[in-house]
Amino acid sequence: MSRSQSKRKEPEREVKQLHQKGKMESSVFDRPSLLALSRMMKKGIFKTLDYPIATGKEADVYRATCADGSFMAVKMYRIDTSNFVKMQDYIHGDYRFEKVAGGRFETIIAWTRKEYKNLMEFSRAGARVPRPVFALRNLLVMEFLGEAGVPFSTLGQTGSENPQKDFDSIIDDLAKIHAAGFVHADVSEYNIIMDDRGPYLIDCGQGVPTSHPGAAAFLLRDVQNVIRYFGKYGVEADETEIMEKIKKGKL
Ligand SMILES: Nc1ncnc2c1ncn2[C@@H]1O[C@H](COP(=O)(O)OP(=O)(O)OP(=O)(O)O)[C@@H](O)[C@H]1O
Ligand SMILES: [Mg+2]
Repeated sequence: MSRSQSKRKEPEREVKQLHQKGKMESSVFDRPSLLALSRMMKKGIFKTLDYPIATGKEADVYRATCADGSFMAVKMYRIDTSNFVKMQDYIHGDYRFEKVAGGRFETIIAWTRKEYKNLMEFSRAGARVPRPVFALRNLLVMEFLGEAGVPFSTLGQTGSENPQKDFDSIIDDLAKIHAAGFVHADVSEYNIIMDDRGPYLIDCGQGVPTSHPGAAAFLLRDVQNVIRYFGKYGVEADETEIMEKIKKGKL
């Protein structure tokens, strides 16, 4: 029997319930996400959730439209599949999140809040990051990086047209973030979005204060990733020199 035939035979209410059940099961929108989404919409943060820009293991990012026709990016952390054990390495040792106990749900909520706070700190420091707008439970709303509703691509996807300039801009941002007391800790070509004017750092949830025991190693890893990527374009850089410059806050 075909699916449509079997559906027709069922009472209308049951069909509706089944439909809803099916949607809930196949969708990324678990109950906490649905509740947070509905609260945000009621608050008028945005009006519609349009489509997924990217879907990943830890989070999905959607484009949303606001009442005035402008766009936002909504990052929805996955409660079921996020690697919350790994997240704890970047939460423990961060003075802002000392009281987070460590269960799955609590960790992911703290992580969302951490990305929001980091975006606040990094943008205040003058780094090019999406402006944070709102965080609730596992949902983070931020500035949509795109043009005419089309999201910009990552550095990994587009490559660099001005390698030296882009390299300098990224290192400059890492220095600004460091001078403000933080380390991004997840810099790679996949977490950089490009527009005509240059690179934006995204995916800032992993960022830690410079007082975190792993901060120096995370900064070195960030710098090595940037040097490795731009090395392919022939950009020459001395790792030790760059690290010193960042730590001094001078470039
Ligand atoms: N503010 C934004 N505006 C437009 N597109 C965005 C924005 N933030 C993220 N994106 C898109 O979504 C993708 C995934 O974002 P992000 O790197 O923050 O999440 P993720 O890699 O899934 O997170 P995690 O690594 O924590 O699992 C990006 O590569 C980019 O294409
Ligand atoms: Mg990412």
